[in-house]
Amino acid sequence: MPVQVTTDVDAALDVIRRGGLVAIPTETVYGLAADAANETAVRRIFAAKGRPVDHPLIVHVAEPARLADWASEVPPTAAVLADACWPGPLTVIVPRAAHVLDVVSGGRASVGVRVPAHPLTTELLTRFDGGLAAPSANRFGRVSPTTAEHVVRDLGEVPGGVDLVLDGGPCPVGVESTIVDCTVDPVQVLRPGGIPTEQVERLLAGAVAPATGPSRASGMLASHYAPRCRVLLADTADEARAIAAGEANPLLIGDTDDLVRYAQRLYELLRRADEHGHSAVVAVMPPAAGLGHAIRDRLLKASADRAG
Ligand code: TXA
Ligand code: MG
Repeated sequence: MPVQVTTDVDAALDVIRRGGLVAIPTETVYGLAADAANETAVRRIFAAKGRPVDHPLIVHVAEPARLADWASEVPPTAAVLADACWPGPLTVIVPRAAHVLDVVSGGRASVGVRVPAHPLTTELLTRFDGGLAAPSANRFGRVSPTTAEHVVRDLGEVPGGVDLVLDGGPCPVGVESTIVDCTVDPVQVLRPGGIPTEQVERLLAGAVAPATGPSRASGMLASHYAPRCRVLLADTADEARAIAAGEANPLLIGDTDDLVRYAQRLYELLRRADEHGHSAVVAVMPPAAGLGHAIRDRLLKASADRAG
């Protein structure tokens, strides 16, 4: 049976309450959501994605006041960031409350929480009155979905993959949330995303350190967010054109100063390259500022050597 794609929040709520999986629209990418307090339901997410079970999930909540429900304490840095950025593309890592399931936190002492900015998902979260554990709604290691159709293509054929897709249209930000570990002082940006690192630095008066330790977040693995075809990087549009000239059937992306649009369309274009049988994506790297940090990070991962 084809998976149900709908804008009906009642139907989505029903699936969540019954322990099912709903693909939810957010401002960043689509998430694959289950009741964060239902262990059986959360386990289904890992099976659907083919994701290692020790990778922690983000808990999505309706409003900033709900952060305290999932944290044993809210560090002042997390409070400042949540206050300024939520609803929006920011995830804070905080010490987890005792009731948070191991399957959600990957057995860690911390938990990631965010308030997404999308009217359908806000309505779902408000009426559910709980937390939704949700990773991006793609198969593990592949490009995140930014439309309902992407989700259907990735998970529609996977047995138990997704019970319902809540269709909220294309995601306006297009890259995942910025993850800030607030359990350490100074805080660390584990993954650049929709909130520019400079904004985090400004809000915390500069007290931000680079991420340390191997794979603090699964998105920090070298190869992630990858299409099947090769991804070649260039520093300028001229260089990109020169590289593309040596390719049989290249798809050139990023010849633009509009980083908002570049981020919005990035995953769509990486998918298109595979669907249209391009031999390679040739991408112009944006400057390392603002949304450029997140775009550069995803392009570097997409271009990483995937051998083994
Ligand atoms: O924009 C987003 O963040 C999207 C939408 C759906 O909200 N979600 C998303 O989830 O990108 P996911 O699971 O694909 O990436 C979340 C990242 C993972 O790399 C995970 O390892 C990291 O967050 N993470 C979650 N909880 C963590 C924790 N307690 N400590 C360290 N990293 C954590
Ligand atoms: Mg992901």
